Amino acid sequence: MEEGYILALDQGTTSSRAIIFDHSGQIKSVAQKEFKQIFPKPGWVEHDPNEIWSTQAGVAAEATVKIGINGKNIRAIGITNQRETTIVWNRETGLPVYNAIVWQDRRTAPYCDQLKNEGHTDLIRAKTGLIIDSYFSASKINWILNNVDGAKELADNGKLAFGTVDSWLVWKFTRGRVHVTDVTNASRTMLYNISTQQWDEELLKIFGIPASMLPEVKQSSEVYGETDTTVFASKIPIAGIAGDQQAALFGQMCIDKAMVKNTYGTGCFMLMNIGSDFIESKNNLLTTVAWKINGEIQYAFEGSIFIGGAVVQWLRDGLGIIKTSAEVEKLALSVNDTGGVYFVPAFAGLGAPYWDPDARGTIVGITRGTTAGHIARAAIEAIAYQTVDVLKAMEADAGMKIKELRVDGGATANNLLMQFQADLLNCKVIRPHIVETTALGAAYLAGLAVGYWSNVEEIQKQWQTERDFVPGADNDKVQAAMAGWKRAVAATQSWSS
Ligand code: G3P
Repeated sequence: MEEGYILALDQGTTSSRAIIFDHSGQIKSVAQKEFKQIFPKPGWVEHDPNEIWSTQAGVAAEATVKIGINGKNIRAIGITNQRETTIVWNRETGLPVYNAIVWQDRRTAPYCDQLKNEGHTDLIRAKTGLIIDSYFSASKINWILNNVDGAKELADNGKLAFGTVDSWLVWKFTRGRVHVTDVTNASRTMLYNISTQQWDEELLKIFGIPASMLPEVKQSSEVYGETDTTVFASKIPIAGIAGDQQAALFGQMCIDKAMVKNTYGTGCFMLMNIGSDFIESKNNLLTTVAWKINGEIQYAFEGSIFIGGAVVQWLRDGLGIIKTSAEVEKLALSVNDTGGVYFVPAFAGLGAPYWDPDARGTIVGITRGTTAGHIARAAIEAIAYQTVDVLKAMEADAGMKIKELRVDGGATANNLLMQFQADLLNCKVIRPHIVETTALGAAYLAGLAVGYWSNVEEIQKQWQTERDFVPGADNDKVQAAMAGWKRAVAATQSWSS
């Protein structure tokens, strides 16, 4: 039989992508399409579920056509997706009852505050590993049921289905035959008990959500169904699903306890594999499911930084000191250091481990000699300092020091940032050969389920490093720099109070 390829579908917050991998894990074809971001009110963010579907199906076809293959050459599809984003649709018509409410959407923040005031924090953390926040799906489903005309009644009569984006795509690819999700996506809904691995009745009651709406929860690597022939002429098994950050953890082959990856995108998402036991964080991190393969579950700590690469976008679009994001490294290298300037890019509050929604961005230490170069350098360094804060919380929770950090995402092309990161952490920072680790992770999960790759060890052997950044800074200097950063963060927080 011909070896064929694996098609990974990466349904992200701003674009739908399709990447085709061959057996050696190399990229053969990529197609990408952006779609509309809908902002009906301040703090609200929506997507059109039909556009999510049409762009995703479109790029899947485009990626195959580009290299002159068709569905017959695709051995399996792996799906990875923006997590938490909530879609509710009518089971009979297949039509969404409302737009997708995106993970960034803050409309349910007051409701979440109410839940905190009612004392649900500990219960929810113990069951789901999550901090009560509008980020997760449960409060978004509650909003749809209570604000969309007729939704509550349809839901009570078993006519509505809920799904995160993976679930919606599988439903569409199978023409409504399959309504599933995987454990990693379920773990982001705030309705799933990650210890018992069940939808949790008590939580469903708190959020007023009928169990009949929920998808069946599957492993991250198994055959869920086949694509309908109206999509591809031949039926292709859909065989892997994972939320994008978990897929990246797998794509980085962080398969052993204490292995950590950080994705430097618009924000940064850092995940640490913590093995097969659920551990509650004591340092303001989330606990989440990393994946479930061959009946074995693995958990992860997660810390999210809201502004990562977005700080460079701000230098470009807000401050106008660079024309393209790539120019930032050159500008930052025009000076030897920040000249005592610290930049805390708390534009949207501070995420882990501070969780301060009211903090706002601050630049401190400016003198007459400060130049655009110093500001640019301080902005890049801020990405690394925030990463250290999350990593220290992880080390404290795990009770151990990490040996290396595997990195991916757009900003990892910045060598200055990567070297500074290694110096601050005093550990090796590893940039892999394939930086499309999210899609690669989804491809691996799907390929494993259909025997395209025989086991994780085989995959591990083909995983390659492109460059190691080795720490080389003087420890006293690093400590002094960190102390300065802490003072700058404190200034940011006192500004908000
Ligand atoms: O939790 C949100 C995250 O999954 C979104 O990822 O890459 O689509 O911004 P991304």
